[in-house]
Amino acid sequence: MFELIYRSVARPTITTADIENILNTSRDFNAKNNITGCLVFHNNEFIQILEGDTQTVKALYAKIKNDQRHTDVMLLDENEKEQRIFPNWSMAYYDLNSNNVNESDRLLFINNFIITADITEKPTHAVKLFWHIAKLLVEE
Ligand SMILES: Cc1cc2nc3c(=O)[nH]c(=O)nc-3n(C[C@H](O)[C@H](O)[C@H](O)COP(=O)(O)O)c2cc1C
Repeated sequence: MFELIYRSVARPTITTADIENILNTSRDFNAKNNITGCLVFHNNEFIQILEGDTQTVKALYAKIKNDQRHTDVMLLDENEKEQRIFPNWSMAYYDLNSNNVNESDRLLFINNFIITADITEKPTHAVKLFWHIAKLLVEE
């Protein structure tokens, strides 16, 4: 099992339709290719964690890096690990843009920190980093 985490900056012109397209493509492709993970969108920045077979995740990341809908793609961490953290999510998504996030979404998101912390016996550095950055974003 391999995991990879990166952050990037959305094109200023990105639309809700663009995001929906990304999610539709992702959920379809990821489900077929045994990739799971989570994508957070906040203040025009993305942070994403991907997990799956090493070659599949690396090949997908290469495609994502070239995607014109975002820029400044920065790899934060990648490593082999024992088990999946997001077994049931082909691509969980949180839109935390301050003007359209509501309280129940925010609570759901924070609740996921607790669940993830609970199910993760030995969280890898990447997973800790992912939740740490996501938590900073949600608290902004
Ligand atoms: C922030 C962001 C995250 C993405 N995450 C995924 C993903 O998890 N899985 C996926 O298949 N495509 C994802 N994409 C879309 C890919 O960049 C690419 O458009 C898609 O793999 C289709 O590529 P293709 O048309 O060359 O096959 C993401 C794009 C962006 C901008």
